[in-house]
Parts: sequence; structure tokens; C-alpha cells
Amino acid sequence: MADKVINVVCICGSLRKASYNRMVMNALPGLAPAGMSIKEAPSFADFSLYNVDTQEASGVPPAVQKLVDAIRAADGVIFSTPEYNFSIPGGLKNAIDWVSRVPNQPFAGKPVAIQSATNGPLGGGRMQYDLRRSMIFLDALTFGRPEIFIGNVSTRIDAKTGQITDQQTVEFIRQQLAAFAKFIERYGGKQ
Ligand SMILES: Cc1cc2nc3c(=O)[nH]c(=O)nc-3n(C[C@H](O)[C@H](O)[C@H](O)COP(=O)(O)O)c2cc1C
Repeated sequence: MADKVINVVCICGSLRKASYNRMVMNALPGLAPAGMSIKEAPSFADFSLYNVDTQEASGVPPAVQKLVDAIRAADGVIFSTPEYNFSIPGGLKNAIDWVSRVPNQPFAGKPVAIQSATNGPLGGGRMQYDLRRSMIFLDALTFGRPEIFIGNVSTRIDAKTGQITDQQTVEFIRQQLAAFAKFIERYGGKQ
């Protein structure tokens, strides 16, 4: 895979306009290793609440299909997401539930990395293990370490400029992306 560009899509778990996780996501292309391209995945903001009846009556909505297609086409997926009430934000979980119900769901065999930023001191650690659990059920290849937990995020990212001001955080993200690229080269492309 040496000359091939690694295409990664990033799913931001927060719908908030001034989201810190969105700021992290926006910083990723500048921190990615050579040969890795990172783009934002299509939004799940307009997904209806998942209901089997809706899917049976009307099929997979176009917005869901767009996200499914983007995940399927990508070499890897990164989640940049907050923790809500010690777990996965409801909107993001709903999006995963929708995506999981298409035939040949696209997370199977897909390399996935997780990052979280929260205002709490643990940086979303509890959420990450719940998200890993969902990814296990979906047969994703979830990347291990280094993990990215950005705690007390308002002290590490300048909310006005969107810049990550904490250099240790910048360095951890750089290291995770470099290791994720190697992980994709080693294990990806098997779905
Ligand atoms: C519904 C809700 C639940 C939250 N639960 C947690 C939590 O369990 N742990 C935590 O560290 N922060 C929690 N927070 C605070 C978030 O970390 C903080 O709002 C953060 O900025 C959200 O990420 P965002 O800036 O990307 O939207 C919660 C916030 C909301 C709105």
C-alpha cells in the first residue's frame, strides 16, 4: 500500500456549532502523516430516530445511505466525539444504529479509531469503552493505542480560534494518526 493514499472519514459525535470535538476533527488533516487524507463524513444531523417500522416502510433514508457509502469507501473511520452521561452521545448512537441496519453493514472489517474531548477530567474514557463495545458487535477493527482522551478541553483548545493550544495533545494526536495509518496498512482492506 506504499504509494496509495489512505482515505479516512471522520465522524464528529457532537452537533454543536462550537463543538470542541469538531475543532479536534478540523485539526486532523494538518496532523496526519504523509499519505493519509482525512475528510469529514456526511452529517447524521437530520437522521430520524431509528425505528424498524420506518425502515421497513420506507427503506434506508438517503442521508443514512450517504454516510454508509462514505464509510464503505473509506480505508478507515475516526470518531471524534464527546461523552454524554458517561456514554455515547444519543445522536451518534442513533447514527450507528441506522448504519448498522443496512445489508452488508460497512463497519465490518473497517479500521476505526476513537478520539474524545470533554470538559470533564477523564476526557470521555467511559464513552470510549462503550463505543468500542458497539464496534465489536459490528465486527469493526478497532485501533488500540495510543488512545486520545482530551480532558478539561477548554484549557487545551482555544474556543475562539479553534486551535489546539496544548502541545502534548497535538503530539498525542499526531502519534495516534501515524499509528492508525500503519494499522490500516497492516490490517485494512480485508472487508
Ligand atoms: C447531555 C450532556 C451530557 C454530558 N455528559 C458528560 C459526561 O458524561 N462526561 C463529561 O466529561 N462531560 C459531559 N458533558 C460535558 C461535555 O464534555 C461538554 O459539553 C463538551 O464540550 C461536549 O463536547 P463538544 O464541545 O464537542 O460539543 C456533557 C454534556 C452534555 C450536553
